[in-house]
Amino acid sequence: MKLPFGAKFLGVGAAVPATVITNADLEKLVDTSDEWITSRTGIKQRRIATNETASGLAVDAAKDAIDFSGIDPSTIELIIVATSTPDFLYPSTACMVQASIGAAKAVAFDLEAACTGIIYALAVAQQFIGSGTFKTALVIGVDVHSRFLNWQDRNTCILFGDGAGAFILRASDPADNEILGMYLRADGTGSQLLKIPNVGKGYPSENKDINKDQHGCVEMNGRPIYEFAVKAVPEAVITTAAQANIAVEDIDYLIPHQANIRIINAAADRLGMDKKKVISNVDKLGNTSAASIPLALWHGLKQNDIKVPAVCALVGFGAGLTWGATIIRWTATDKRQESG
Ligand code: ACO
Repeated sequence: MKLPFGAKFLGVGAAVPATVITNADLEKLVDTSDEWITSRTGIKQRRIATNETASGLAVDAAKDAIDFSGIDPSTIELIIVATSTPDFLYPSTACMVQASIGAAKAVAFDLEAACTGIIYALAVAQQFIGSGTFKTALVIGVDVHSRFLNWQDRNTCILFGDGAGAFILRASDPADNEILGMYLRADGTGSQLLKIPNVGKGYPSENKDINKDQHGCVEMNGRPIYEFAVKAVPEAVITTAAQANIAVEDIDYLIPHQANIRIINAAADRLGMDKKKVISNVDKLGNTSAASIPLALWHGLKQNDIKVPAVCALVGFGAGLTWGATIIRWTATDKRQESG
């Protein structure tokens, strides 16, 4: 559907907790090895929240994106936070961010689509901006999975890290639109493959044998998720590229959800994409869920792996099952550097 306004990216921001947990640290907790984790996932270390909170990381990422953009936070009219691990079921993380950054006139709400959340949130922001409802949007992905992990379960505790990433978008002339294509999918028949069950005191446990440490923790059937992801990423990129009217070869960078380097490489191979075009920081941060795509973009810009302007395919997949992609043109540069 053609929208009356375009959406331009003004900035990106990032925040991660201070504490680094290496694979060697995990060897002391569960029966695993650096060799197993590195060869199966590509993860070497991850950041884990100790004093940090989901809302605090979201605020820090938002402030970083605001500084990158050089905007006045009071101009923000819409705040969407994608998260499945908020500090509270309510108030929303978005309302806490709104108060902390001084965006008094912004509408604020959370959205949950697991690791695909940031793609869903960008799609919602695009609709509000494109229709002319709001001019400036702050879109955040934040997850603190460490609070929902069974640290005795080697199948899951090695995979996740905590963090937040944020985007600022502003309405533009349709000719300057930077969201070139958008594709969202869900398949609830896979809902039991990856879940955080039994959250909340009164919820009847599905598993009577579950002990207190496992209550409300990630449960995952990894192999089918892997098989789903290596198909979902190329399908989403090819469909979104066709919608954006560009060839897959015209994509400068693939910025996929950072779950596992094997998934990322297998998807890139299926797309026939040179590995130089693939942006990944899964070795340093692990799977930061809804935060992983903006965090990878942020790192890519910082390390000069991404040369601006760039056509980027952002692709998410995760629990639900959910998946989706957006193809964007990234032109924004850090206003802090421009002002010296
Ligand atoms: N250390 C050592 N051995 C382990 C570990 C570990 N940390 N974890 C599992 N193993 C063992 C298993 O118990 C199994 O042993 P067994 O053969 O004796 O039963 C063996 O290693 C092989 O296990 P597989 O599951 O076959 O290993 P696989 O190659 O599939 O890799 C992995 C597992 C990394 C989890 C992979 O399946 C994967 O990445 N899946 C996708 C997970 C994912 O991306 N989840 C997040 C989605 S995003 C979201 O929404 C949150």
